[in-house]
Amino acid sequence: MKNGTCWLDQDGKRIQAHGGCILFHKGIFYWYGEDKGTKTRDGRVDFLGFSCYSSRNLLEWKNEGRILSAVSKPGHELGPDRVGERPSVLWNPKTERFVLWFHLDSADYSYARLGVADSDSPTGPFRYLGSVRPGGMRESRDMTVFADEGGLAYLISSSDGNSTLLISELDHSYTGFTGREKSILCGQYREAPAVIKEGGRYYLLTSGCTGWDPNPMLCAEAESIWGRWRLTDNPCRGEGRRKTFGGQAACTFSQGGKWYVLLDHWNPDDLSDSGYSILPVNAGADGIDISWQDNFGGIDRQWNKKNG
Ligand code: DGJ
Repeated sequence: MKNGTCWLDQDGKRIQAHGGCILFHKGIFYWYGEDKGTKTRDGRVDFLGFSCYSSRNLLEWKNEGRILSAVSKPGHELGPDRVGERPSVLWNPKTERFVLWFHLDSADYSYARLGVADSDSPTGPFRYLGSVRPGGMRESRDMTVFADEGGLAYLISSSDGNSTLLISELDHSYTGFTGREKSILCGQYREAPAVIKEGGRYYLLTSGCTGWDPNPMLCAEAESIWGRWRLTDNPCRGEGRRKTFGGQAACTFSQGGKWYVLLDHWNPDDLSDSGYSILPVNAGADGIDISWQDNFGGIDRQWNKKNG
């Protein structure tokens, strides 16, 4: 698949899974994302809902349909006039349910809340449980979720006018918060967070806040989720590194002992035609780095090649 372009599903249609996440469950990859398959006007599309695609090799994607759709009732929180972004799905082994968190907003991004839904199937439909703000009434915009070892899971979102990232611990059901939280990278104005855990260290990839325009990715590192996070540097290497190769991180995922980052390449004139890239993340003793590759060849082939 050509990185930076809008990939096609098995039916030859453009994959509508922008700002998404990839979950590996029982031998299948599920890619959840924003369905932006409608007309772009003034740099935005009506909220349609979130889609799901499945694949065994990350190359051939079957459209599994919408897991949560917009609600066409006047004033509804999930109405077409709203913003729904960065759908992120966790599997909860204790409750055996899939939990979806997403950035829920008004068209002017002042609502700044989180939506939550759950399902007993990875392909949904998901039951909408409502919206919430973390830490009482803290704003929440770009976000990610991270399932750690030991069944713990966290939601990390841009807060306080996007100036801060807020880490909130999820409760045993993953549909609410324990109340344990921490503000990090205060005053740094970072968004598009995505977590990698490698060699017992946490790495947090973020972008700057420049709307749909690409900017330099930065990495922050910590020994523990509640420890001291230090901004290190841009992990991207080579040509295009100062603009994250024209993309912005949507999510990270690990497979076969290796981490990958999924990028969105936003097309603000036609958001439905925004491209994707999957790039391997190289982790070493002195941190992580990410290099551009023109094509993504799938997991199996890369893993097989490396392991003979
Ligand atoms: C950048 C964010 O990362 C996207 O999810 C989206 O909110 C755009 N800004 C909107 O301009």
